[in-house]
Amino acid sequence: MSRVDRKPMMAGNWKMHHTHLEAIQVVQKLSYRLQGEDYDQVEVVVCPAFTALRSVQTTLDSDRIPIALGAQNVHFEPKGAFTGEVSPTMLAKLNVQYVIVGHSERRELFGETDDLVAKKLRAVLGAGMRPIVCVGETDDEREAGETETKVSGQVRAAFHGLKGDDAAKCVVAYEPIWALGTGKTATAADANATCGLARATLREIVGSVADGVRVLYGGSVKPGNIAELMAEPEVDGGLVGGASLDPDDFARIVQYHRSR
Ligand code: PGA
Repeated sequence: MSRVDRKPMMAGNWKMHHTHLEAIQVVQKLSYRLQGEDYDQVEVVVCPAFTALRSVQTTLDSDRIPIALGAQNVHFEPKGAFTGEVSPTMLAKLNVQYVIVGHSERRELFGETDDLVAKKLRAVLGAGMRPIVCVGETDDEREAGETETKVSGQVRAAFHGLKGDDAAKCVVAYEPIWALGTGKTATAADANATCGLARATLREIVGSVADGVRVLYGGSVKPGNIAELMAEPEVDGGLVGGASLDPDDFARIVQYHRSR
């Protein structure tokens, strides 16, 4: 299966930005800028903070905007005494379709382990949603030539033992940690090589199903570099932080296809 069979995806990760009121405005502005052909070419996802999910969901529903709703994190249990956590069931009830799991900020700043990421991935699938599983190396690991070991290890740890039809519902995001919010981007060739490595590792676990799984690149994606990244055969889209906060910039990223 080639890129032609994998619909490109642009997912905006708003992180801890935008109140629910700001989030409504951003999603409305984004929808004014995007047209039918954009949604035909690209699957568009926004991942607001938990406090904005309900407002964004009602905006998308009432205005019939074909943007998918994503969450940035989740707990792996369906309910229980876990103060401050949000369950997969709660997200699924809000029509959340995608959940980012194992973002490097969760791993590095909040101590999420490979084991926890694997549990969350399964919990998201169990609730009928699709995980966007993040992997990527630090600057030190890159300097030490450990990118491949780190990325393939994280893919193995997350997907080990997963059945093919479950893996088919997943999205992988390769996000080199040194490129997040820094303005530094991996070269298109490096992004392609490591996205390809993530897919090859997945193929070892689930076979040819891996060829249908989208692998996104994340790390300072902007309107000015997305076309070059998307020209690479293994890069199926972007997980976009900073540039997704602005509806004009995010719309231009989604519209990369217009310049082809
Ligand atoms: P960035 O963030 O686009 O601001 O680098 C991407 C991410 O962390 O998902």
